[in-house]
Amino acid sequence: MVGQGKARKAAGMILKMVQEGRIAGRAILFAGPPSTGKTAIAMGMSQALGTDVPFTSIAASEVFSLSMSKTEALTQAFRRSIGVRIKEETEIIEGEVVEIQIDRSLTGATKTGKLTIKTTDMETIYDLGTKMIDALSKEKVLAGDVVLIDKASGRITKLGRSFARSRDYDAMGADTKFVQCPEGELQKRREVVHTVTLHEIDVINSRTQGFLALFAGDTGEIKPELRNQINAKVGEWREEGKAEIIPGVLFIDEVHMLDIECFSFLNRALENELSPLVVMASNRGMSRIRGTKIKSPHGLPVDLLDRVLIVSTKPYTEEDIEQIIQIRCQEEDVTLSPDALDVLTSMGKQTTLRYALNLISCAQVIATKRKAEQVSVDDLRRAYTYFMDEKRSVQWMEEQQGSLVFEEMDKPQLGVGANGTSHMEED
Ligand SMILES: Nc1ncnc2c1ncn2[C@@H]1O[C@H](COP(=O)(O)OP(=O)(O)OP(=O)(O)O)[C@@H](O)[C@H]1O
Ligand SMILES: [Mg+2]
Repeated sequence: MVGQGKARKAAGMILKMVQEGRIAGRAILFAGPPSTGKTAIAMGMSQALGTDVPFTSIAASEVFSLSMSKTEALTQAFRRSIGVRIKEETEIIEGEVVEIQIDRSLTGATKTGKLTIKTTDMETIYDLGTKMIDALSKEKVLAGDVVLIDKASGRITKLGRSFARSRDYDAMGADTKFVQCPEGELQKRREVVHTVTLHEIDVINSRTQGFLALFAGDTGEIKPELRNQINAKVGEWREEGKAEIIPGVLFIDEVHMLDIECFSFLNRALENELSPLVVMASNRGMSRIRGTKIKSPHGLPVDLLDRVLIVSTKPYTEEDIEQIIQIRCQEEDVTLSPDALDVLTSMGKQTTLRYALNLISCAQVIATKRKAEQVSVDDLRRAYTYFMDEKRSVQWMEEQQGSLVFEEMDKPQLGVGANGTSHMEED
């Protein structure tokens, strides 16, 4: 990422607090003109968080779906952003296979067998049932392999071949990994940790088809009683030291599209004990709160604004725009001639960054058509005349008074956006 120093510093600080688990239940608002990198910064945050901390990203309009109520959609988004790290102790057998002996019955229907397995300190023989024999042959376990067997589930994992067998050339492929023969006891207790979200726990417990609903995405509404039960259970685990709550991040883009009922829900939900960090983004200045006639900064009610830390993003400087364009060209494998870069930079300054970035690939298509390797100023100019940016489109619309259909037959309602450009105000 380029430029936007203050907002990025703020995002970095927030991330640090999230990682230390100190910021749950708070809210941040990125406010600034369109295409100043609000969404981009939030996506950067999610990348930086890693896989263990849940990050959910929704657009505010997704909340208005037909299959569930607004508050249910928001609740699910909230619970998707809270992780539960569950610790489990399992018993495992880890050692080097000395011998596998399988006896088939005359009909071949049942199999019995013996597995001899050792560590550097001991050697034991285990009886094998049909299930274990199948698992061993599926994993293609041979004498000399170092394996890990989960006693509860019977799952077998091949860790590699023992160094002692490194001279059996015929028994290995090019990708054979050699490991030491394990030391100590054959049977060990091991702690395994998995992280799931509260929403996943909800879904698994709410449906007869259980976790399959997670893949189908067909979760429907979840009963509040069930959620209360799960909260209580998780609380219990937490007290027993079996589980740990990891508050993650919920990102709500275009947050001004939420209506007053959602905002009041947010107010309450932020005060809940199990609440993630809520990051919001809005490009509105003074605008109407959806569902009311009240005008308010960023389209958010003042009582919610009072609870959030506001980070503003500013329009990019010319140097930043140039650098961002260069990065984008590299990504898209496009070469711009030096003067084309200058022209595109000043276009980006006069219109928006997003428009300039969109022109890159359009101009590239035009350049390929005339079999040129570089995009020239002419290509850009052609693309510029083919595709209008927002300002020119508004201007053109005003010139077309009378021939376009407007809802009211007078001037189109234009609100003034935060950076002075015009925006159609939703009604
Ligand atoms: N600092 C940056 N470095 C690199 N690329 C950037 C940066 N800021 C924005 N961009 C790029 O500019 C484009 C617009 O940015 P983004 O979508 O984040 O704007 P936004 O602030 O969310 O706008 P809107 O309010 O319209 O949603 C994106 O393609 C993004 O990749
Ligand atoms: Mg955005």
